Amino acid sequence: MSEGEARIPLLLDVDTGIDDSLALLYACASPEAEIVAVTCVAGNVDARQVAENTRAVLELAGRLDVEVALGREAPLARPLVTTPETHGPRGIGYAVLPPAIRPLSARFGPDVIVEEARHRPGELTLVTLGPLTNLAVALQHEPALPTLLRRWVMMGGSYRSPGNTAPTTEWNVSVDPEAAERCIAAFGRPEATAARIAAGLAPLPLALGLDVTERAKLLPHHLAALAARAGSYADPARDPAAGSVASNAIVRYVDDALRFYMEFHSRYDGFYGAFIHDPFALAAALDPALVRTEALPVDVELGGTLTTGETVTDWRRAWGRPATLDVAVAGDAATFFARFVERVGGLAERVG
Ligand code: RIB
Ligand code: CA
Repeated sequence: MSEGEARIPLLLDVDTGIDDSLALLYACASPEAEIVAVTCVAGNVDARQVAENTRAVLELAGRLDVEVALGREAPLARPLVTTPETHGPRGIGYAVLPPAIRPLSARFGPDVIVEEARHRPGELTLVTLGPLTNLAVALQHEPALPTLLRRWVMMGGSYRSPGNTAPTTEWNVSVDPEAAERCIAAFGRPEATAARIAAGLAPLPLALGLDVTERAKLLPHHLAALAARAGSYADPARDPAAGSVASNAIVRYVDDALRFYMEFHSRYDGFYGAFIHDPFALAAALDPALVRTEALPVDVELGGTLTTGETVTDWRRAWGRPATLDVAVAGDAATFFARFVERVGGLAERVG
């Protein structure tokens, strides 16, 4: 980052899981990112485990200065479903981290989003990497949030690709479809879009769905390169029963977390590697040039027998409604992986 280049202030909302943790490391490793606060939501694992994982990963990166707040522990209108088969019982695969040292924030997650947006109107980019429960509650508390945030960037949805949860649904949206419907509708209201244009802000939220994130496969050679960049070693393809032999703590964490995630993808997606959805979304929040987008009308199915949680996308404009999301339709995976390896490997080398 060159001298005087403006930093990008971020609010991160996470359900730390394995790829969320990699996004946190990427944020810590990105000089242009100012992490204003991190809010935790139930999703991959329960919200209190998310909060523990989030603080432990930030502390692993040496970031004891970042406020971490607990948010909603259940979706708006349905029981929580977690996914231990994807991220492991504690959400970080085979990795083991020291217990978090710092206490959780006294603030409630949705209140952090509202209060920070009010404090710095038009400045903050909210990056949601889990279910949208916290953002939906924040919108209840502050309906003007769409015009207070600089932008909302979401990892979520699948706009013309198969789902990863039900045949047509993506996990983050499927966990809390009522929240997703409420958030997309609120940010897509014509008056909100008009106000954002008048304020010189991007009119619509940026949505990275499976259409882009599942065309970027992190493979063992990426992890080996990251370890080498840190002056360390990693080999996730070795005997699964053995823990990482990496001397570097961040490399050891990434190695052990990713080995679980790669085994999952080997079973469910037929390749030994990983879709690292969340770091890609965060990287695009920092550099929107990484993705090509199309402004599209999107709504969320809530009453489907087979399709509840589907991000229904009006590609042919049959509804006659205004666009509600800037949907990523293509992404520069090679540039993203090069940055991921360089930045997280460099962080690992610096932190040791
Ligand atoms: O569908 C992928 C998303 O669901 C990612 O955010 C992953 O962490 C899980 O939460
Ligand atoms: Ca996530």
